[in-house]
Amino acid sequence: MIEQPAHEIIIASNEEEIQQCYKVRIDVFTHEQGFPIETEIDHLDPVSIHFLLRLKPSLIPIGVIRCSQYGPGTYKLSRLAVLKEYRRFKFGVELVQTLHNWIQADANQGQGQAGGSVKVVCHSQIPVKSFYAKFGYIPEGEEFDEDGDPHQKLILELPIPLQS
Ligand SMILES: CC(C)(COP(=O)(O)OP(=O)(O)OC[C@H]1O[C@@H](n2cnc3c(N)ncnc32)[C@H](O)[C@@H]1OP(=O)(O)O)[C@@H](O)C(=O)NCCC(=O)NCCS
Repeated sequence: MIEQPAHEIIIASNEEEIQQCYKVRIDVFTHEQGFPIETEIDHLDPVSIHFLLRLKPSLIPIGVIRCSQYGPGTYKLSRLAVLKEYRRFKFGVELVQTLHNWIQADANQGQGQAGGSVKVVCHSQIPVKSFYAKFGYIPEGEEFDEDGDPHQKLILELPIPLQS
């Protein structure tokens, strides 16, 4: 297997980095997959944490994932995307793990859930269900339409370790 390119994952913290996240999403979801551009940037964007994966040292953006609050003790994973030419390098796995680590830290500090667990919800495209299943995501309910394409609600019970 070809070696994974050098990279870093940051939390987008200024307008330029947020726009870079949107560009990766539009490349993947709109141009590659054909989802409508009108719904790509949505009501969750202003209230989400945006993780941006970029190559080093060039800082070219190639992957994204987004985290938002879903309800009390529940978070939402959305807009996971890696540019087509950079797939199968485990970048998708690394983005999900980074999001899970962030949730664990957030739940630990902010909401006093150490030693318990929180829920992470995801609306998965059908072919990607098996990718999320590797982390323990379990389907809930029937498939439904989102942005013109069938999706499945998945839920993960994410343990929140006790702080050392
Ligand atoms: C889904 C996506 C982010 C995965 O990114 P990636 O960097 O290629 O994935 P990884 O290299 O981390 O893959 C890890 C494992 O998941 C599997 N996998 C990767 N993409 C998959 C997919 N689309 N469906 C099912 N399994 C997948 C790989 O085979 C690999 O399995 P292994 O550990 O047994 O070898 C990427 O395919 C993508 O951007 N797809 C288009 C956008 C999309 O569908 N996003 C999800 C919306 S719900």
